[in-house]
Amino acid sequence: MSTGYTTSRRTLLKMLAASSAVPMIAPSRLFGADAPSNKITLGFIGVGWQGGSNLGAFLGEDMCRVVAICDVDEGHLKKAIESVNKRYGNQDCKGYKDFRELLARKDIDAVCISTPDHWHSIPAIAAANAGKDIFCEKPLSHTLNEGIAMVNAVQKNNRIWQTGSWQRSQGQFRWAAQIVQNGFLGKVTHVEVGLPDGHRDFGKTGNDKPNGPVPEGLDYELWTGPAQMMPFNPCRLHKNWRWNYNTGGGQLMDWIGHHCDIAHWGLANPKFGCGPDDAIGPLEVSATAEYPDKNAVWNTATKFRIDCKYPNDVQVVIAGGHGDIKGGAKWIGPNGWVRVDRGTIEASDKQFIRDIQDREKKGDLDIKLYKSPGHMREFLDSIKSRKRTLTPVEIAHRSQTPGHLGHIAATTGRKIKWDSVQQVIVDDVDATKMLSKKMREPWQL
Ligand SMILES: NC(=O)c1ccc[n+]([C@@H]2O[C@H](COP(=O)([O-])OP(=O)(O)OC[C@H]3O[C@@H](n4cnc5c(N)ncnc54)[C@H](O)[C@@H]3O)[C@@H](O)[C@H]2O)c1
Repeated sequence: MSTGYTTSRRTLLKMLAASSAVPMIAPSRLFGADAPSNKITLGFIGVGWQGGSNLGAFLGEDMCRVVAICDVDEGHLKKAIESVNKRYGNQDCKGYKDFRELLARKDIDAVCISTPDHWHSIPAIAAANAGKDIFCEKPLSHTLNEGIAMVNAVQKNNRIWQTGSWQRSQGQFRWAAQIVQNGFLGKVTHVEVGLPDGHRDFGKTGNDKPNGPVPEGLDYELWTGPAQMMPFNPCRLHKNWRWNYNTGGGQLMDWIGHHCDIAHWGLANPKFGCGPDDAIGPLEVSATAEYPDKNAVWNTATKFRIDCKYPNDVQVVIAGGHGDIKGGAKWIGPNGWVRVDRGTIEASDKQFIRDIQDREKKGDLDIKLYKSPGHMREFLDSIKSRKRTLTPVEIAHRSQTPGHLGHIAATTGRKIKWDSVQQVIVDDVDATKMLSKKMREPWQL
């Protein structure tokens, strides 16, 4: 990674003068804090729905400069490049179809990965090995073992990582987690995590289109990558990939990285919960689910309920399509409850919410969680400071773990016993096989 913004100009000039091996030309990154060459350089991999939104957000940040875009769909690629060039008033942004070419560029400091779930682990690990810092979308990975490999690669290469679990950067989620971590509820006994059901996020896009020719400008071979090759059908493609287990994990995996992530955040004080949240995990997981016909293009669970036993006698239920579990994260203890969702925070006692805001302002809290300056800005700040972000890779991995295990429990119909230290399923060989998936050649982790 280039270090123009971490090494002072004077230090670098001294280093240059002392070394005969480097030419006596000051690198362009030394000139002017606001010069484009002093900004964190970003490349984007995947610029569809969420990638487009992430791109817009990073283009609004002055600390960085987007220099490269990669997408296997020419239409998405062109639109994204145009928006970058328009923003900077030049024609400098380069386009790529193959992420390996983008990662080979030495002048790129960090990447933003917003590909479908089956395409997170390989580019993320390659990016870590190439020395890039990484912003990657949730859920962290398509299988649990891919998640372990991603954590290992990021740790081994000492990279900064931010996950797209942006709820941690929002006030009401922080207040709720602080209420729990500061013991307002007493020792938490139950947690409810409510996720959406069905396949309903994008209106009625339909599950019944015929297979057809691959659209012009789309590299379907590369889009499919490590997943199994299927006949082309628009219902498997952009956005809709999440409704088929070949490429996604349905509503459960789509949302686990948001609301279960927040549930873990609240539990992160071992005194009142069972954290810390970068090592937290269930001990036992049972689940039931309802599925469409297994031959349907959209074959992911439409209704599910996962019951988890966590350490310290905490019961966590994660459900979609069960009316008794409301959306978001709800923690329950002997002194009351608090529930948080997008746009909502409510509690058994309204005073909890008033108190937490008041005491946060006064700095009068035993546990004061970091107040994010915004999810993208926090990532960029961490790249400079080399401090962990709010949603590092270890936390994203732990947040998604109950989703992967719940899917395995529902599919096998068995209670899964989980060793969350070794990260292995205990005494169940067939369930253990489901922690990984065979990747289509030539792709491998
Ligand atoms: N944080 C959030 O709130 C949020 C919201 C929506 C989606 N997401 C996540 O974002 C990711 C993308 O979801 P989406 O809904 O934007 O999907 P999408 O299908 O709209 O976009 C994915 C893009 O990746 C491209 N792509 C596929 N394979 C590629 C490859 N090998 N190299 C480069 N580009 C490739 C596709 O062509 C497409 O443009 C998913 O992991 C999803 O869970 C996060």
